[in-house]
Amino acid sequence: MMTLIKDDNNRYRNLINGEWVNSKNSTYITVTSPIDNSVIGNVPAMTKDEVDLAVQAAKEAQKSWKSVTIGEKAEVLYRAADILLKNKEELAGLMVREIAKDRKSGLSEVERTADFIKFTADTAKNISGESIPGDSFPGGKTNKVSIVRREPLGVVLAISPFNYPVNLAASKIAPGLMAGNSVILKPATQGSLCGLYLARVFQEAGVPNGVLNTVTGKGSEIGDYITTHPGINFINFTGSTEVGQHISHITNMVPLLMELGGKDAAIVLEDADLELTANNIVSGGYSYSGQRCTAVKRILAVDQIADQLVEKILSKMEKLTYGNPLEKDVDIVPLISSKAADFVCELMDDAREKGAKLLVGGDREGNIIHPTLFDYVTTDMRIAWEEPFGPVLPIIRVKNKDEAIEIANASEYGLQSAVFTQNINDAFYVADRLEVGTVQVNNKTERGPDHFPFLGVKASGIGTQGIRYSIESMSRPKVTVINLSHHE
Ligand code: NAP
Ligand code: G3H
Repeated sequence: MMTLIKDDNNRYRNLINGEWVNSKNSTYITVTSPIDNSVIGNVPAMTKDEVDLAVQAAKEAQKSWKSVTIGEKAEVLYRAADILLKNKEELAGLMVREIAKDRKSGLSEVERTADFIKFTADTAKNISGESIPGDSFPGGKTNKVSIVRREPLGVVLAISPFNYPVNLAASKIAPGLMAGNSVILKPATQGSLCGLYLARVFQEAGVPNGVLNTVTGKGSEIGDYITTHPGINFINFTGSTEVGQHISHITNMVPLLMELGGKDAAIVLEDADLELTANNIVSGGYSYSGQRCTAVKRILAVDQIADQLVEKILSKMEKLTYGNPLEKDVDIVPLISSKAADFVCELMDDAREKGAKLLVGGDREGNIIHPTLFDYVTTDMRIAWEEPFGPVLPIIRVKNKDEAIEIANASEYGLQSAVFTQNINDAFYVADRLEVGTVQVNNKTERGPDHFPFLGVKASGIGTQGIRYSIESMSRPKVTVINLSHHE
């Protein structure tokens, strides 16, 4: 069992320069469980001065961390992965309470994160530079050779969201560290205990003092200060488009890597295998109550098969379970906050008022929204465009694949989409025209495997993640040109 550092009043501390420190001005935020409002703990609302200390420590520590051999850095990461696995039950238990993720999904998140960390270490060990001969460019400079290596950027600010508090923090920390950067983690407030737990894991694994630091506090209060801090060299953010856009407006010349919101479409064509399609739509749309960036968030079904598809989806939805994840593993858990549940209700009310046909669900019990399916959704309804981040799926019926593509692309978002068809030509026809980072053919939208490139276009993100891509994003080429004198 790994102990998180806290005092007798259930007040947790932040990791700064290798020390677990209390809030200097004794201001704390109480983190309560979305399940029953019980208090889980209190985390410091860090002040600007404390942020300065974290940045200073990170800046100083990075100077020596960048020179630690790749092999030694990798050893630290392997140990971190092992420690995570040893403590997976405890960490998954914390996730259940803090973000209402069911235990099975929490365990799978921890295991996936351990794999991610190990794979990152392996990948970094295998990244090599290149040498480029000068004579390959017109003009033929035979005496020149460019040696290209990669070097770190400095201090990486990692801002993670609530929904994958372990995985989406580690997927910034591990590549950041392997690239030779130091990292400051600002976890989502709801999810910050999981973030602090992860920092403790890396510390136990031997990350030197100051190389990984944590800053807790509300993004709305401390966010602008930390994102515009002159000591930050790179920001890796995952969260809503609204906050992502705000950060990109206020920052200046700091490279950004952002994974933002989405409205992933499942496009279902007339020859789709409807059994497979319905299975994917139900697991893609409703698992963890739809609180996944890559959840299926709208169904665009051609008229010909729409009725059959609806029937199959409804029969699979009957098997969805909902309730308290402390009691049993369930598909539908309480949403992260009552505000989030209110928002989903607003979207449902709007759809009802504008004439969508409610096929199932539509009810709320506390923060639990029953799995909901609307048919005959039209493009004047908010649910056609907005991301509910809840278990609500709209079906928009379309004439053909071209209309599906047109509606899919009319979204401000461009994370992923799925196309279900047995015709490879149609699959490519649709995939080539969709304005998204990834198109899944005959599968739900999803991020993994985590070494695949993962990116959003339009309002869904900036830059590319994925293990090698993340390491490359958090480093830059350093070019040394050798000019030989003995050549002609
Ligand atoms: P969020 O409200 O945008 O928060 C994300 C993070 O940003 C949290 O750590 C939050 O801290 C912080 N933050 C808030 N305001 C800030 C500011 N002014 N400056 C700096 N940081 C600030 O998002 P969320 O509710 O946690 O996550 C749900 C959203 O994330 C959805 O839109 C989902 O689609 C998106 N998401 C996208 C991906 C992807 O890969 N594309 C993955 C996961 C989630 P506080 O918690 O303290 O406010
Ligand atoms: O919430 C966003 C996560 O990156 C989604 O990951 O598709 O593996 O659930 P996932």
